[in-house]
Amino acid sequence: MKIEFVPTRPAEADVLAFIVTKSSFDGFAFPLENAQMVHDTAKLARFKGEAGQSFLLIASEGGKLVRIVLLGVADGDAGDYQKAGGEIIAKVQTSGAKHIAIHAENLSAQAAAEAAYGATLRNWRMDKYRTKLADTSKPSVEALSVAGASAEAAALWTRYAAIADGVALTKELVTEPANIIYPESFVERCKHLADLGVEITILDDKQMAELGMGALLGVAQGSRRPARLLAMKWDGTGGAQARPVAFVGKGVTFDTGGISIKPAAGMEDMKWDMGGAGAVAGVMKALAGRKAKAHVVGICGLVENMPDGNAQRPGDIVTSMSGQTIEVLNTDAEGRLVLCDALHWTQETYNPEYIVDLATLTGAIIVSLGSEYAGMFTNDDGLADKLTAAGKASGDPLWRFPLSKAYDKMIDSPIADMKNIGGKGAGSITAAQFLQRFIKDGVKWAHLDIAGTVWADKPGAVWDKGATGFGVRLLDRFVADNFEG
Ligand code: BES
Ligand code: MN
Ligand code: ZN
Repeated sequence: MKIEFVPTRPAEADVLAFIVTKSSFDGFAFPLENAQMVHDTAKLARFKGEAGQSFLLIASEGGKLVRIVLLGVADGDAGDYQKAGGEIIAKVQTSGAKHIAIHAENLSAQAAAEAAYGATLRNWRMDKYRTKLADTSKPSVEALSVAGASAEAAALWTRYAAIADGVALTKELVTEPANIIYPESFVERCKHLADLGVEITILDDKQMAELGMGALLGVAQGSRRPARLLAMKWDGTGGAQARPVAFVGKGVTFDTGGISIKPAAGMEDMKWDMGGAGAVAGVMKALAGRKAKAHVVGICGLVENMPDGNAQRPGDIVTSMSGQTIEVLNTDAEGRLVLCDALHWTQETYNPEYIVDLATLTGAIIVSLGSEYAGMFTNDDGLADKLTAAGKASGDPLWRFPLSKAYDKMIDSPIADMKNIGGKGAGSITAAQFLQRFIKDGVKWAHLDIAGTVWADKPGAVWDKGATGFGVRLLDRFVADNFEG
């Protein structure tokens, strides 16, 4: 979908969208031939301009029939304009309409850009494997014109467009099946970030073995697909910010559970067990795309967890790069094994001041939070506040969970430094405690368990059902609000 900011509505537009607040609806002067009819019909349908309300009708305009869409934004919060933009797409994406015009004469620059942003996010879908898609199910919209917004809106838009590009990369990586996206091909799909100025480092399995990453490689050893560590560095400060912010993602491109194999029903969902790594790649693309004035590194630990003659067994003891040993009691608790080496390497290599890791780590976080919030675990109250605020503002919300000595004790092992599972309860917390054992003193760290938020069973305001892109907008906002002066 082509997006343009133009002074007036193009004649070829066949969807005319109006975004109205509660207080503006009654006297709203629709620039339409049938203005009164449109207003009265909407009112009859009880449209009041409430947030999330929408109304579609077909009317005659300029000698042809066009779709007219009304969207409510209540009192005009930024997030409501974004949702309104998304709703326009939800209403007309496959309707046969080709060209949307959003009337922005009454909108602030930010509101206009937010609407275009929401529409762009909501418009993403993957049809490349649907070779027999009926014409009536194919997206028909080719262009979106934002008409009559101030010049500032178009300038703001370039920033939003970069973030939307990052979200799109994440959705693509998450949506692709595991025969297409595996550690090596994940890396290939991220190489284009170099064109934006991202410095890319790739470690292969041999290099990781030399570094002693026995925990990560233990997970990979049951797969034909060799493991990779992908590091992406963006420094938009010209060296002024010495210690970077680090984002570290779990990238299990498929999680069968290994020898502790998962049940067949629903196992296909485990193609999105790389959602943390996908979010890290996406946010790096967003930050580089909008030339963020911050120093950020993104690290993806990439493996496939398969059962095979060479797979690790329950009871195996592995030695992590940090030197700490781990008794692998359940090969399905593999994410923490991948992350512990990725986290250690990140600290050794970049000496970051902050680390945020993202992982589809536990089913237990879905029991706790469903798919509305991701779980947050952190050793720093200030970081908790920063991330919580970024979550609220970005639409990727977080809820904090505790960490404590008592939970930490639950992963002590009688034969090694720790075991990779805790007891019956608190599964998401003991997983986080495990990761904390690999965080050095003084490093401000947060772990985000995004198992419930990476994939949606039903459409949301700014995503269709499927990949949500969770984490990209959150981390972009976290960087923008805290590290760009
Ligand atoms: N990738 C899963 C977690 C998961 C489950 C994500 C369902 C999304 C939906 C993770 O590797 C896993 O298998 N965790 C186990 C841990 C257990 C063995 C301690 C779990 O949650 O069951
Ligand atoms: Mn698992
Ligand atoms: Zn997993």
